Amino acid sequence: MEITTKDANLKAFCHIGGLCKEDQEIMTRVGPGIVPHVPLLTDHFYEILQEDQQTAPYINGRLDVLKKTHIAWLQDLFSGDYDEAFIRRQEKIGEVHVKVRVPPLFVAASMSFLRAALPPVIAENVPDQHDMGRAVAALLRLLDLCQYLIDRKYNDALMDNLGISPALLVRLQTIGRS
Ligand code: HEM
Repeated sequence: MEITTKDANLKAFCHIGGLCKEDQEIMTRVGPGIVPHVPLLTDHFYEILQEDQQTAPYINGRLDVLKKTHIAWLQDLFSGDYDEAFIRRQEKIGEVHVKVRVPPLFVAASMSFLRAALPPVIAENVPDQHDMGRAVAALLRLLDLCQYLIDRKYNDALMDNLGISPALLVRLQTIGRS
């Protein structure tokens, strides 16, 4: 992949995970067939977040805006353009989530939802078996990359860079524990 970054950690992440130029190519090619299905999947995703008592408070009053930003984010994944600006967009998502105090647990769970929900959409809409396999692999690598970039912002916050106390971050990260 054309990750044009000076960030050695990010380079290592992409190298070890296998992100490459072919991922960029396959995502650009299959994107137009997948993107029209993104709004329905997003509706389903936000139904789950609304139904869950723990996530609903973060969604209420912001549903339409959040759906729109989520659809735009997913479309971006299929753009095939993973440059510095793409990386910066993921980092900004991390910063916003830290700012509005969304526990990283919920971001991880959302990524998990997408890792399960998107491959069947690709399978149904990419007729060539070889392309389908490559597209699913590229998508999973990209979701991992996004999660890594978002998680790093939580880690920054843990170091108190964004003005959130370490104690609060620890509480957010251990929401499920008694
Ligand atoms: C795959 C996981 C997720 C992605 C990719 C994602 C993406 C985004 C994006 C693109 C924004 C806009 C950022 C900006 O303003 O620049 C945003 C904001 C936000 N997200 Fe998420 N999100 C995810 C999961 C969640 C979850 C699980 C929750 C809540 C439980 C959540 C709650 C919010 C809230 C409250 C905002 C701020 C909205 C505002 O500005 O009022 N997000 N998210």
